[in-house]
Amino acid sequence: MINHEIKINFKEYSSLEELNKEDHDLCLQAVKALENSHSPYSKFRVGAALRLESGKIIYGSNQENVAYPSGLCAERVALFNWGANHPHDPIESIAVTAHSDEFEITKPIASCGACLQVLAEYEKILNKPIKVLLFCNKGPVWVMNGVESFLPFLFFENRLIS
Ligand code: THU
Repeated sequence: MINHEIKINFKEYSSLEELNKEDHDLCLQAVKALENSHSPYSKFRVGAALRLESGKIIYGSNQENVAYPSGLCAERVALFNWGANHPHDPIESIAVTAHSDEFEITKPIASCGACLQVLAEYEKILNKPIKVLLFCNKGPVWVMNGVESFLPFLFFENRLIS
């Protein structure tokens, strides 16, 4: 029997002000993305912003539907927008934030497994990790370099995509 241990690594900044200007600006764009969240059912707004190599910003927000499973997370709205419209302009980083009218969020919200899986596929296509910045209104900012920090056992099979 072999007992494997996996370590993950991420950076914690005490506030947005501690980030470099580029990351700080991207986080503000994620806050802007919250405005277009369509979340009448959960009342939980999620905003995502991607920064592309060209400097272009792609926005995403959670879009819910009365047929609940038809809705989509903010991260995938942004990521699929990129895949459909800007696939030749590599993603450098993604910032994600959340806001609830019903309760206070005091630590970053981690993206769901489905969003991480989509992020992972685009990292494979781009052949590089994508920087992920997670933050909320109050509390720390978590910065991860690439999806493997969250999901070391993500589903991947080279022979299915090449
Ligand atoms: N949500 C996201 O937008 N991103 C995630 O990674 C997890 C959850 C959304 C989906 C739904 O509209 C709301 O948050 C509550 O689950």
